[in-house]
Amino acid sequence: RPGAAEWVPQDPALRDVEDLRAAARDCRGCELWEPATQVVFSAGAPSGRLALVGEQPGDQEDRRGVPFVGPAGRLLQAAVEEAGIAREDVYVTNAVKHFRFTQSAPGNRRVHATPDAGHVTACRPWLAAELAAVDPDVVVVLGATAGRALLGPSFRVTKERGRVLERETSRGPKRFVATIHPSAVLRTPDDQREEARAGLVADLRVAAEALG
Ligand code: URA
Ligand code: SF4
Repeated sequence: RPGAAEWVPQDPALRDVEDLRAAARDCRGCELWEPATQVVFSAGAPSGRLALVGEQPGDQEDRRGVPFVGPAGRLLQAAVEEAGIAREDVYVTNAVKHFRFTQSAPGNRRVHATPDAGHVTACRPWLAAELAAVDPDVVVVLGATAGRALLGPSFRVTKERGRVLERETSRGPKRFVATIHPSAVLRTPDDQREEARAGLVADLRVAAEALG
């Protein structure tokens, strides 16, 4: 796995979100590009004050080329609204830009497979470049994979969620708020799902307050 760095434009004049999106189509930084339909780069406001970082595209995102358009995305969008965050403030992306899945036979359902640490490392140059371009005030870390990508391998979402963490970045100190991934809410048993969803909204409210 060479990692994405050699596909990320080096010229500072070619590093806005649209430039990065175009360049990412050719990325061969790890093996995930090959079985996937296409790269899924990001969506939303290219200078959004708040960035939401998920794990990787899912089945529907892979087909459509747009992040968070499937069931987890709908849940997330509703939670963002409920937390009082304006859509025009939000940039959305993923730690890993290609869909990793298993499939028992061609034509069968493609089943989500969590990207491993090597995929996260390989793809991180894209995430670093886009966050440098967008320069959000607050970064919302959705789940363990985004946590690993942004806050390091020892980061524990369950321990650190729901509060403002300040970390040094290439654009100076930045605020991060970690929370559970919306897919985790969907996987929660019926009788506890509303509580899980409310927890996601409460953490997003912390991010909204940090935005001011
Ligand atoms: N889950 C993610 O983490 N990202 C998406 O884009 C969709 C589902
Ligand atoms: Fe490149 Fe990331 Fe796709 Fe791997 S997952 S090929 S590093 S864009």
